[in-house]
Amino acid sequence: MSDAHGTRTPVVLDCDTGVDDACAILLAALHPRLDLRAVTCVAGNASLADVVRNTLTVLQTAARPDVPVGVGARAPLLEKPFEARHVHGADGMGDLRMPPSRLSPDPRHAVELLRDVIDAGAEEGNRVTLVPTAPQTNVALLARTYPESFARLGRVLFMGGGARVSNATAAAEFNVFHDPEAAAIVLDACAEHDVPVGMYGLDVFYVPTVTRRDVARLRAVGSPVASLASGLVEFACDRFRSEEATIGDAGAVAMLLRPEAVGTQRLPVRVELAGTWTRGRTIVDLRDWSGDMAHDPHGLAATQVDVALTVDGPALADEWLRTVGGFA
Ligand code: RIB
Ligand code: CA
Repeated sequence: MSDAHGTRTPVVLDCDTGVDDACAILLAALHPRLDLRAVTCVAGNASLADVVRNTLTVLQTAARPDVPVGVGARAPLLEKPFEARHVHGADGMGDLRMPPSRLSPDPRHAVELLRDVIDAGAEEGNRVTLVPTAPQTNVALLARTYPESFARLGRVLFMGGGARVSNATAAAEFNVFHDPEAAAIVLDACAEHDVPVGMYGLDVFYVPTVTRRDVARLRAVGSPVASLASGLVEFACDRFRSEEATIGDAGAVAMLLRPEAVGTQRLPVRVELAGTWTRGRTIVDLRDWSGDMAHDPHGLAATQVDVALTVDGPALADEWLRTVGGFA
């Protein structure tokens, strides 16, 4: 979205490019009200090498060779990698057999690229919005390595967690489950540096969907972007034997464009690090009576997060579809 002066919003994505991360990159790269400054890569849905390859393929398809791609962490801070190829395919991005990209990653490590892009945004008076759609290993390393740059972020809006919904386990969402320590470090850093933080979690993640009919519409467009988008959605529909598929991570980017379409509440949020069956759960404190909280031996979580709890799914899905299809 643009600010009051109509300037485009600088955004950076941190991805584990996967099918829905690819959808998110397309939206961020092509929407006129967003200024995609960089995409950084982290292991998650697939190996780091696959994530980097997939990210470069998407940016080449979007004709955005100007967007630098940073290579980041190849494993979580503590956990072993825990891939999701059963969801995203053998190559991590829908097995679309796309030709390899001619693009190369930026020579800087992802953490240094994040530092430089954040500092540049702050110096020009237009602070960057960071949208992690993956395990937050890179973002945690940024917070620990260059805290002064982390503090210059305009906002963090992460896809991850859930107040009432999980997927990776009965308790946790995949991105946070993959690297719980990283998610906890990032929440702490947002509180420490007063960086506003939003959570686009599973409570809304599955709601914005596109259909096989949309796949046909995109295919009829015939552009490289529309063809990639149609292939991603068709893969997701086939994978889940459904007539529709969530735009997933792209919903977090669409939320930047249509904030009025997402109902949020500012709530204390912690990450469970110790529980045998609950490790990686985002503990969203939904209590509404101060008496309970006043007697809580745990005290309130340090970080207040704008948690997305409701969403106008068609509004966000439409923003994505119109952008990738070039529809009016
Ligand atoms: O739980 C959903 C998240 O995990 C999405 O970001 C998806 O791409 C996977 O990384
Ligand atoms: Ca992702």
